Amino acid sequence: MKNLILCGFMGCGKSTIGRRLSKMTEMPFVDLDRYIEEKAGLTVKEIFEKYGENKFRELETEACRELSEKSGYIIAAGGGTLTFQKNIDILKETGRIIYINVSYEMLCERLKRDTRRPLLQVENRNEVIKELLKKRAPIYEGAASIHIDGNFTSNRVAEIILGVL
Ligand code: S3P
Repeated sequence: MKNLILCGFMGCGKSTIGRRLSKMTEMPFVDLDRYIEEKAGLTVKEIFEKYGENKFRELETEACRELSEKSGYIIAAGGGTLTFQKNIDILKETGRIIYINVSYEMLCERLKRDTRRPLLQVENRNEVIKELLKKRAPIYEGAASIHIDGNFTSNRVAEIILGVL
């Protein structure tokens, strides 16, 4: 059975929706960032601070490889995971990619108090979100075979995904 890979921008709800879907389907859920953190014994923020983003990206690809060996899992990718073609290739081998598309305005609102995500600890947060989203939205769209409007509650989005599957 194929894995379901949830992708989309930071704050689009991948993890919450993934957990919800897992309850609804009884498919096991794993969050890629939490998986990396458990293996490293450090938070994502600490990995960025101590070793830099490139090291985090290496660990992320390693995690994609390991998780792609599973079957029938719901996997929440990180917002940057699919910006590397090798990660798309790895995850696609055993999974269907679902893009959760959330508007710029809603992402800014959801992320405005974030302290956890290293890329957003900047003064011009909304500008950074705008620029990254412009670059990444076409990548998510191209990688995913299922596109979902994510501008609803996580419960509703999980129901929509189930309806589409
Ligand atoms: C990142 C997104 C984060 C996490 C890291 C980098 C990104 O995951 O992997 O902070 O490049 O967009 P979430 O999308 O789960 O916040």
